Amino acid sequence: MSSHFYKSASRAARSLLSSASKHRHHVVSEGRTAMAAATVSYKGKLPALVSFCDSSTTSNKWITGALALPAAAYMLQDQEAYAAQMERTFIAIKPDGVQRGLISEIIHRFERKGFKLVAIKLVVPSKSFAGKHYHDLKDRPFYNGLCNFLSSGPVLAMVWEGEGVITYGRKLIGATDPQKSEPGTIRGDLAIVVGRNIIHGSDGPETAKNEISLWFKPEELTNYTSNQEKWAYGVN
Ligand code: RTP
Ligand code: MG
Repeated sequence: MSSHFYKSASRAARSLLSSASKHRHHVVSEGRTAMAAATVSYKGKLPALVSFCDSSTTSNKWITGALALPAAAYMLQDQEAYAAQMERTFIAIKPDGVQRGLISEIIHRFERKGFKLVAIKLVVPSKSFAGKHYHDLKDRPFYNGLCNFLSSGPVLAMVWEGEGVITYGRKLIGATDPQKSEPGTIRGDLAIVVGRNIIHGSDGPETAKNEISLWFKPEELTNYTSNQEKWAYGVN
């Protein structure tokens, strides 16, 4: 779902809920259970979302609207809430990881943790682009070799989203030098030397923001509610 579509859907949802409350039907704004109950009780006119979601059969508009109401509320509550709270990080599988066939292994580790993939592409960066990515290391003796290496082949660039994903992503990755990475981490299990440590992860919120905007255009970042979020997150 594009962000434009998402914003339109959220606007439509908001408009629908406001319309529903004007008709003084029983619409409670807290919780999915309450919105499910609203499916049964709401039979008013539903101008915004009927046209938004029903393009072909218009004979039973109030039914379509009644079904659309909880969907709209769900969209508004869940997507906006998650979009506001969830942090994002930039993760890249370097040319050594790609060449060694470790893409699926690495994605699997982020996926099974519960983090959500929101952008992905395979690119061969130019040396000057690699230099921008590693600009904070430009005074280190290995900078030139590092940029040569990053631009030597395909890099799998990704953005992952989730609560604490920046810090925990670094935990999944392990220490920079695979000789010091704990077993169970990506570098600990899959790499041997620091010059071929297969993966990059943003080291803080500011870096994450800058790296995401360096590697991705805004329209390449998706906004969606993963089916597992309602089970991966919750407070008792
Ligand atoms: P990354 O940025 O790739 O996620 O790695 P990192 O934060 O754990 O480590 P950083 O200090 O940012 O170093 C970036 C990459 O430079 C290479 N490196 N080589 N002594 C060396 O030869 C040396 N030290 C660092 C590694 O590829 C490291 O991931
Ligand atoms: Mg780093």
